[in-house]
Parts: sequence; structure tokens; C-alpha cells
Amino acid sequence: MSILEKHKILEKNASLLLVFSFLVVTIGGLVEIAPLFYLQNTIEKVEGMRPYSPMELAGRDIYIREGCYVCHSQMIRPMRDEVERYGHYSLAAESMYDHPFQWGSKRTGPDLARVGGRYSDAWHVHHLRNPQSVVPESVMPKYAFLERRMVDPTYMADKMRTHVAVGVPYTDEMIENAVADFNAQIDPYADGVDGLLERYPGAQVRNFDGNEGISEMDALIAYLQMLGTLVDFSTFEPDASR
Ligand code: HEC
Repeated sequence: MSILEKHKILEKNASLLLVFSFLVVTIGGLVEIAPLFYLQNTIEKVEGMRPYSPMELAGRDIYIREGCYVCHSQMIRPMRDEVERYGHYSLAAESMYDHPFQWGSKRTGPDLARVGGRYSDAWHVHHLRNPQSVVPESVMPKYAFLERRMVDPTYMADKMRTHVAVGVPYTDEMIENAVADFNAQIDPYADGVDGLLERYPGAQVRNFDGNEGISEMDALIAYLQMLGTLVDFSTFEPDASR
């Protein structure tokens, strides 16, 4: 009996076909799923990624609270138009400390995964106050009220402990220094700046002088200016024609 004839038996016998299909799906499923139980992590580590500094974390919470993710994704797909517009496609490791992640497929506004450093702080202030003042046709709402609401870092350490519970590797030292690091990131002359930069390499220390305290807008801008700047892609050429 040839293999074709044997297969004919299978095809003509519904119950037998069902049993064999089940076997095939079971083996295929096991081969796919079993290795996942032996892997510590499915995300490839990338140099530069670190947990968010207390100030960036505070800004991120405001970003989520205000629903910025409803219109903005943080996930550049590996397609030519996206890579040429936004930069290197997003790596899984770049959102490994995001709880919840900020990926998405709906973009009313542009992707923000690499918006850090693209504009000045002052541009962001104008844009958040009144987006139409810099982009007249923008449908983005105004967030001027963020300037009048202050961020209180009192519970920063608790917030970081919560992130530890879901797997973000904040050390005891980072948690102990939560408030100090928060304050150091807004004062380039503070004693704590060295400690901050040691714990969070690449954290951008800026002078938010002239404010009484740190407004939610300041924290949000600190977060936006960090996005996509942790991993060094400076040697990346988005020219897909080569
Ligand atoms: C209703 C949808 C909507 C919401 C909600 C929204 N945006 Fe936007 N955003 C847009 C659109 C549309 C643009 C493009 C026009 C412009 O620059 O204003 C934009 C542009 C931006 C840009 C400039 C991006 C670039 O590459 O030019 C930033 C930064 C930004 N938004 C941040 C935010 C933040 C932070 C929030 C939450 C506080 C937010 N957006 C909420 C729609 C939205």
C-alpha cells in the first residue's frame, strides 16, 4: 500500500482523522509551549535600559492618568515608513519596565516611542498648554491645567515597591533614595545629582526654576524627554534603500 492509499484511509474515516489531527496539534502545541517554561525571560537584554527614575515614573503616571495612550502609541513597527519617520523600530527590551505597556495600534497622534530630545522643553510646554499654538490643525486637547497641579513625591518609595512586586528591579538603595532622587533631577546643583546619575544613568537633570514646586507638566515633560533615549541607536541608518 502506498502512502497515498494509506492517507486515503485517513481522509475517508472521520473519527480516525480526528484522532490523528488531535495528535498532530498536541505535539505541535507542546513543542511551542514547553520551552517557555524553561526560559527565565523571553526578552533579550539591551544595553542602556534601566528602570525609570522617580521623576520619570511620576511623569509616566500622569501620561497614563490623562489617557495620552488613547491617541499615542509607543511602538515603532519594523516597516519602512515607520522607521524612516520615527527611527529604529522598538525593541521588546525598551518596554520591559512598563507596567502597563504603552504599545498600541491606534494613532490619532504620532508614535511617541522616540520623541525624547526631538523638541525642546519649552516647545513641550507650549504644545501641552495649547497644541494648536504650535500645530494649528492639531486635534490634541489642551493640558494647561497640569502646570497648576504639583507633584508630591511623598509616596514615591511605595510606588516603586509596587513596581518591584511586578518585577521591576528597583534596588533597596533606589527605594531609600526615592525622594532625594526625585528632588535631584530638578536641580543640577543639588548634592544628590551624582547619586541619581549612578543609579539612573542618562537621567536628564534639568532646572525647573521659577516654579513653586514641581508641576505635573514638569514631570510629564521629564518623562517625554526620556522616551527612546536610553538605548543608543546613534549608528543606525534608517535608509532602507541600501
Ligand atoms: C485626542 C487625541 C490626543 C490626545 C488625547 C493626546 N494627543 Fe498628543 N497629539 C495628538 C495629535 C493629533 C498630534 C499631532 C499634532 C500635534 O503635534 O499637536 C499630537 C502630538 C503630540 C506630540 C508631538 C509628537 C511629535 O512627534 O510631533 C506630543 C509630544 C504629544 N502629542 C504628547 C501628548 C501627551 C503627553 C498627551 C497626554 C497628556 C497627549 N499627547 C494626548 C493627539 C492627541
